[in-house]
Amino acid sequence: MKELIIATTNNGKMKEMRTLLAPLNIEVKSILDEFKENIEIEENGKTFKENALIKAQTIADKTGKVTLADDSGLVIDALDGRPGVESARFLGHDTSYIIKNNHILELMKDKENRSARFVCAIAIVIPNQEPILFEETFEGEIAKEILGENGFGYDPIFYFPPLEKTSAEMSMEEKNQYSHRAKAVKKAIDIIKEL
Ligand code: IMP
Repeated sequence: MKELIIATTNNGKMKEMRTLLAPLNIEVKSILDEFKENIEIEENGKTFKENALIKAQTIADKTGKVTLADDSGLVIDALDGRPGVESARFLGHDTSYIIKNNHILELMKDKENRSARFVCAIAIVIPNQEPILFEETFEGEIAKEILGENGFGYDPIFYFPPLEKTSAEMSMEEKNQYSHRAKAVKKAIDIIKEL
């Protein structure tokens, strides 16, 4: 296999993906690289796995090429799993993460249970084969304040006790050692190597 399409238009995610998939030594293309424009995909699944499959299947059908999609989000136990599959749309797609993160800190103000996890589901669609689907997690807690400038999205409020820092304070190397996406992509690499 020479190339792999990643069904995402999220630059932060694509940057992590390129680093993680580098060991495969194949061309890794985003939706924008492949189509030169954004392709709107309605993520109306109820689970991370369903959404990953919708994205990968849509792009694989359009390109006829092996496509990988991830669907990820933040699951907070004290908020009944919110924002969950709504993570990107939480408070509106275009609302800044400063606002989203502050809102979550407010919702979590009096909560004793601060356990949370990032979840990453991956779907790999190989034309004319059964899709491959799996999920990994990055376990942590909701911080008490916004901290750190690395990463993206909810990283500044996601505290990782083993390193005593938020994932926005972790270097890319550290995040790629522990994160939901890193663990899921490592699994994907093993699968893709066999293709
Ligand atoms: P997706 O593009 O539908 O998978 O949306 C994922 C959303 O979940 C992102 O837009 C972020 O809000 C959040 N998210 C997923 N992974 C991470 C991460 O590693 N750090 C911070 N936020 C994340």
